[in-house]
Amino acid sequence: MPPAELPHRRAGGLSLPVISLGLWQNFGESTPFDDQRRLVLHAVDRGVVHLDLANNYGPPPFAAEESLGRMLSRDLRRDELLITTKAGYRAWPGPYGEQGSRKYLRASLDESLRRLGTDRVDVFYSHRFDPHTPLEETLGALRDAVRSGKALYAGISSYSADRTAAALVVARSIGLPLAVHQPAYSMLNRWVERAGTDGRSLLDVAATAGMAVVAFSPLAQGLLSDRYLNGVPAGSRAGRGGPLRPEWLTDEVLAHVRALDVIARAGGRTLPQLALAWVLRDQRVTSVLAGARTTDQLDENLAAAAAEPLDDDEIAAIEPHAVEAGINLWGPRSSDL
Ligand SMILES: NC(=O)c1ccc[n+]([C@@H]2O[C@H](COP(=O)([O-])OP(=O)(O)OC[C@H]3O[C@@H](n4cnc5c(N)ncnc54)[C@H](OP(=O)(O)O)[C@@H]3O)[C@@H](O)[C@H]2O)c1
Repeated sequence: MPPAELPHRRAGGLSLPVISLGLWQNFGESTPFDDQRRLVLHAVDRGVVHLDLANNYGPPPFAAEESLGRMLSRDLRRDELLITTKAGYRAWPGPYGEQGSRKYLRASLDESLRRLGTDRVDVFYSHRFDPHTPLEETLGALRDAVRSGKALYAGISSYSADRTAAALVVARSIGLPLAVHQPAYSMLNRWVERAGTDGRSLLDVAATAGMAVVAFSPLAQGLLSDRYLNGVPAGSRAGRGGPLRPEWLTDEVLAHVRALDVIARAGGRTLPQLALAWVLRDQRVTSVLAGARTTDQLDENLAAAAAEPLDDDEIAAIEPHAVEAGINLWGPRSSDL
């Protein structure tokens, strides 16, 4: 049976399904390979042809790429998929195992290709801005990856509006098209809308440059669902000691989540569906990059792509509750967000 089609949006030269799947969590040692495989094959069958990785996903680092490599060798057709990876956070000890040096990015991409068992990724990202390495060096490493054919497109992740504007200038000067930006964006984390020093937000800068925007953690790591409204369930990301910190679940944040849940139900949606539709209300967002642990979660999320877009009344009702919740895990680690 041919895979189902999800709507696509085009930007940066790429055609992306409006909902993509990330393999940050749930693709490591604590999830049986058969469960990982079931989820990925189900996603691809439903049209989720964009799979997002990084060298450090799993957990532990490298595990997600190794898993997807196993699936590519037996179950999946490489050229039907858009596979992305990144380097920038710590992957191995020492100065050449993190940040944005040419040495690290080049070695990491070679290792990623080996784990994935493919000769190219579709997008290779600088995972975060590195204040210690000149942009010319980091972006030069991305350009060389594209010129060598080991990556078809280049991207940056979690660079602020100002850093992105600066990166675009450098990229142009060295002959690198920067195709994609990957920032965190959700109803509880709206930094991409904030103006930089020239008055433009990251969404403005990316749109002007024609970059695709792939918005990650649109469910605020699961907080934008009803599951934390009565405590922290065992097995959830917060309950497992994952990167969703229980101290973020304050009464104030939960009151907003509760209100958003009521708005979702009034419109015949679930809260995750409302959260995805809200990010996609902005046409400058090319794809939302959601995570899922089960096929039921994935199916619930994919239904958002088939539903009616939010109307102006719903967007207005959401606005007082779509507030910064202090949950931007990436802010302090990205120097200037
Ligand atoms: N570039 C970067 O620096 C960066 C950083 C972070 C993430 N990312 C990318 O973005 C992807 C998505 O990030 P994320 O996993 O944080 O995204 P998310 O979609 O905000 O959260 C996904 C988690 O929410 C819960 N969930 C999903 N669907 C649900 C549903 N229908 N009902 C209830 N709970 C639901 C699950 O957690 P439970 O396990 O609790 O069920 C799931 O693992 C990553 O895999 C990665 O590719 C990139």
